[in-house]
Amino acid sequence: MANAKPCKSKVQDKVAIVTGGASGLGEATVLAFVENGARGVVIADIQDEKGQKLAESIGTNRSTYIHCDVTDENQVKSLVESTVQLYGQLDIVFCNAGIMSFGKQTVLDFDLDSYDKLFVINVRGVAACLKHAARAMVEGGIKGSIICTASTLASLARDMHTDYIMSKSGVLALMKCASYQLSEHGIRVNCVSPGPVATPLACKKMNMGVEEAEKAFEPHYCLKGVLKAKHVADAVLFLASEDSEFVTGHNLVVDGGYNFQALNYLYDPVLLEWLGFDQEVDIVKLPIET
Ligand SMILES: NC(=O)c1ccc[n+]([C@@H]2O[C@H](COP(=O)([O-])OP(=O)(O)OC[C@H]3O[C@@H](n4cnc5c(N)ncnc54)[C@H](O)[C@@H]3O)[C@@H](O)[C@H]2O)c1
Repeated sequence: MANAKPCKSKVQDKVAIVTGGASGLGEATVLAFVENGARGVVIADIQDEKGQKLAESIGTNRSTYIHCDVTDENQVKSLVESTVQLYGQLDIVFCNAGIMSFGKQTVLDFDLDSYDKLFVINVRGVAACLKHAARAMVEGGIKGSIICTASTLASLARDMHTDYIMSKSGVLALMKCASYQLSEHGIRVNCVSPGPVATPLACKKMNMGVEEAEKAFEPHYCLKGVLKAKHVADAVLFLASEDSEFVTGHNLVVDGGYNFQALNYLYDPVLLEWLGFDQEVDIVKLPIET
């Protein structure tokens, strides 16, 4: 073992921004970056108290909370500038802040004001973060990594939550264009697409506590067990690190095999509701993901 290299943490000395970093998948990713050697992790969110607490629990030398509403481009620009000022550079951005549909949002009953509200966060917000982060990386000559949160739902059809599914398809399209356009600068852009995880977002939508939601999800993964925020964070860590140095334009699905054995949904009213099916008969419309 004389020639073995010393063990290095996956994002050793890197500087990262995580939008939606105060809660759920974002919070788990903030912790994963810190545990894996990041020099500075900026938590960007609109939940100030939660974000501040998280930064304090990590230690304010390695983590900073910055209030940033991703719907406001000026706030996003200032977030990126402050990060570079604080830590000298920007290596990783996790564009993750997002919300679920308000109501059912079927095509025939579209509430277009709600649709706009969702799109401005889920799509425009990701575009703004990607734009300003990429600019900072290009200016700083950083061959960085940008990861966006899409969803397993992005490539499926449902009879509800149309705007949410459209928004996540939009994120995938943005990621593909960005990965192509930024490749000449050595910047990689990828997506992570989680299956259902019992985060505050999912629990609120299902009107359940964490345990109850996880119990409802559990029989429907292919793998035994429950999909946790940590599993998604580990996938983001992989995409952020040099372990994926030749991976770009990729959509990494992290769902324990949830989607490709979709027929099981037929028998579970809770999951049918979560996934956007009104009636059991709707299952015949379900396309198999390839
Ligand atoms: N939980 C799931 O089952 C699941 C599955 C697939 C995809 N996703 C996606 O994962 C991402 C994270 O969701 P989560 O489940 O961790 O939910 P969450 O609600 O726990 O976290 C989302 C965070 O985004 C923040 N946020 C919302 N609007 C914002 C804005 N305008 N500006 C800045 N921050 C804002 C919230 O304050 C919150 O802290 C979302 O994009 C969501 O669509 C979640």
